[in-house]
Amino acid sequence: MQLYSRDVGDGTPLVLLHAFPLSSAMWLAQRESLSARFRVLTPDLRGFGGSPLGTAEPSVDVMADDVAALLDAKGIDRAVVGGLSMGGYVTLAFCRRHADRVLGLVLADTKATADTEAAAADRLRTAERLEADKTVDVLLEDLLPRLVGPTTMRQRALIYGRVRGLVQSAPPAAAAWAQRAMAARPDALELLGELPFPALVVHGEEDEITTEEDARAMADALPNAELTLVPRSGHLTAVEQPQLFNEAVAEFAAALGRTTR
Ligand code: MLT
Repeated sequence: MQLYSRDVGDGTPLVLLHAFPLSSAMWLAQRESLSARFRVLTPDLRGFGGSPLGTAEPSVDVMADDVAALLDAKGIDRAVVGGLSMGGYVTLAFCRRHADRVLGLVLADTKATADTEAAAADRLRTAERLEADKTVDVLLEDLLPRLVGPTTMRQRALIYGRVRGLVQSAPPAAAAWAQRAMAARPDALELLGELPFPALVVHGEEDEITTEEDARAMADALPNAELTLVPRSGHLTAVEQPQLFNEAVAEFAAALGRTTR
């Protein structure tokens, strides 16, 4: 599967994987700012944005292999790989399957634990409704209100409107496929302890989808991690507080570039 990807800038490659049910459009502020120092690649994961859904069974491993194929196609051997929420689950799958291609890891507003049985069952119900409705209404009702934090809701209506637009443009079939893939993802906490490269864990202090405990569990399990807490941000730190997010990622990735040259 050839993913559609936006690819801007030069320098150490930095791959950023988007949240559910968004697309590479969410990384606008990162492409604009971080491309001054890095080669920023922001693929649309399968089914979203400009990438086709294909026929594979739902799995975060399939999504991770798509990213590896993208690096092959671009002639990139190793990259800093990061993801936000669902993008983080795919990043963890990428580490399990393609660790030799990772220079460093960014895990934003995500978690390494698998779904509880109840959470997985909920996802499967959502997937069925997405397929039955052929609209993303269920996501607009249940997920959108939790995607950004209360400060963004109160003070930055334009950001909320932008996120709403991104959710509305998600294809229902891709969203259903991704829900099934996330429901089936394995626990990755043990894997973290074996990862040899440095990691940055980012967490929005007003995130209602993943918790600070999730973020700390990852930072503690990783042998070499730093944790950045982002104030006045909910789940979508990169969209809600792009400047703080970009500063943290730029500092982290620049230090990696220096040690690997
Ligand atoms: C996301 O933001 O990618 C999703 O909310 C993640 C999830 O459903 O676990």
